[in-house]
Amino acid sequence: MGDRKQEQRETFHADDPRGGPLTTDQGVEVDHTDDSLAAGERGPTLMEDFHFREKLTHFDHERIPERVVHARGAGAYGYFEPYESCAEFTRAAFLQDPSVRTPVFVRFSTVQGPKGSADTVRDVRGFATKFYTSEGNYDLVGNNFPVFFIQDGIKFPDFVHAVKPEPHNDIPTGASAHDTLWDFVSLQPETLHAIMWLMSDRAIPRSYRMMQGFGVHTFRFVNADGKGTFVKFHWKPRLGVQSLVWDEAQECQGRDPDFNRRDLWDAIEAGEYPEWELGVQLVAEEDEFAFDFDLLDATKVIPEEQVPVRPIGRMVLDRNPENFFAETEQVAFHTANVVPGIDFTNDPLLQARNFSYLDTQLIRLGGPNFAQLPVNRPVAPVRTNQRDGYHQGAIHRGTNYFPNSLGGGCPAHAGVDGSAYTHYAERVDGAKIRRRSPSFQDHYSQPAMFWNSMADWEKQHIVAAFRFELGKVGAKEVRARTVEHLAKVNGDLASQVARGIGVPEPSGTEAADKLSSPALSLESLRGDGSI
Ligand code: HEM
Repeated sequence: MGDRKQEQRETFHADDPRGGPLTTDQGVEVDHTDDSLAAGERGPTLMEDFHFREKLTHFDHERIPERVVHARGAGAYGYFEPYESCAEFTRAAFLQDPSVRTPVFVRFSTVQGPKGSADTVRDVRGFATKFYTSEGNYDLVGNNFPVFFIQDGIKFPDFVHAVKPEPHNDIPTGASAHDTLWDFVSLQPETLHAIMWLMSDRAIPRSYRMMQGFGVHTFRFVNADGKGTFVKFHWKPRLGVQSLVWDEAQECQGRDPDFNRRDLWDAIEAGEYPEWELGVQLVAEEDEFAFDFDLLDATKVIPEEQVPVRPIGRMVLDRNPENFFAETEQVAFHTANVVPGIDFTNDPLLQARNFSYLDTQLIRLGGPNFAQLPVNRPVAPVRTNQRDGYHQGAIHRGTNYFPNSLGGGCPAHAGVDGSAYTHYAERVDGAKIRRRSPSFQDHYSQPAMFWNSMADWEKQHIVAAFRFELGKVGAKEVRARTVEHLAKVNGDLASQVARGIGVPEPSGTEAADKLSSPALSLESLRGDGSI
């Protein structure tokens, strides 16, 4: 790779164990590690056996908490290069110069199952990218669906509790067929659009290399003049979008639960480096209200007919990690890791995420110093007045406060050379209010567009998935209530599902049928492989 991240990683390798005899953590050579120190041939183990105690104690502490969601994943390093300067829209340094390659680390994941669950379950896939830019780390923490299940992050604990195995018996693991999930869906119709994606073949990707990624939220680009532009991010795979069919997915779970992570690893080892194109949908600030949905609503896509995706660069993954735990497990993505030229919007889901990731990583990675871990460490210089804490790996010199007349302490300056992060000067006012915006209320039009854009065989797969997953729900009223919602998406869909799961077909579905809804020609839905 020959990049700055790789050079940095080289400095973190532990001493080569083949370079000499075994030692303790204190560097004392050990003559024998096969038997503990005992009092006599068959006597008890002695407390003074410091090698035994250190070896066992370290082993006892090898595990850290798995991620609360997205626990199972696979990652790889690579690089990103822009096609041309994006200076018109953003001052982000890594999007200016086609000759500059920015190192990246990407982690793909499933969401629901634990760290040891199978890869090919029906689930959303995480697609998180850390760009080690010259201005600090930028994380694009996306999924392979362009929409999310809820609109406000305050519902995330409820949603995840409903999705995870049921509390009394921890069943089901890594699957989307159970009462609590569908109970939540049937009571919270904002989930419907993402549920349509979940029941489609997009939820069983053939390979991480053949999967799209989406930033989901509307973010904001900001250029050197401080002008903002709304932006949605899209990753498009060079190999095209490819899915398994359900029978294959199930067979893979039995034959090779590592199907997706093995595929990624093997491809990179074989030099078949996976590649994605980064595209953006750009919306001028003055067009914020030009759509019949709210740009801040993460359950909505911007149809590509209305705002085409503009390709801005490409990413190649060309190096497997050397140590799964050190790199793939300890990597910490955070939506709030942004660089100058990229900013947030008031999307209430994004705002919650901007709190949640750092908070969870403080416990998952054992304190406030995890940004020093090799995989998380920026290649940009780090100068802070933060000190101490568990696992402090740096020896800081001097005092650590500002203002400071005694020498030491990092001054913050307003970016005299224009390099500091400045927040977009969005005007904010209004009374405090705890209520969902009325502009977030339409939960059916986009699921209907999604359905209308499917080919017949894709519709068959969706109906079969609903029958399989929803059909397993014990509570008949939950099944019936979900079908009532489907009837507001499409009457035919609702009728077909109802017939397969033993609930009455909803009456008047034709009237509610949104046959007039346009088909979404997200060209990417066709997954033709051209980028
Ligand atoms: C983890 C994506 C919504 C909280 C992740 C990961 C991805 C992701 C890709 C795995 C990162 C990795 O590989 O390490 C998304 C997307 C969302 C979304 C695209 C919606 C658009 C939320 C919300 C919350 C949340 C609303 C909470 C309010 C978390 C937490 C983790 C996580 C706590 C575990 C992070 C860790 O332990 O390092 N998410 N997420 N996510 N997400 Fe989200």
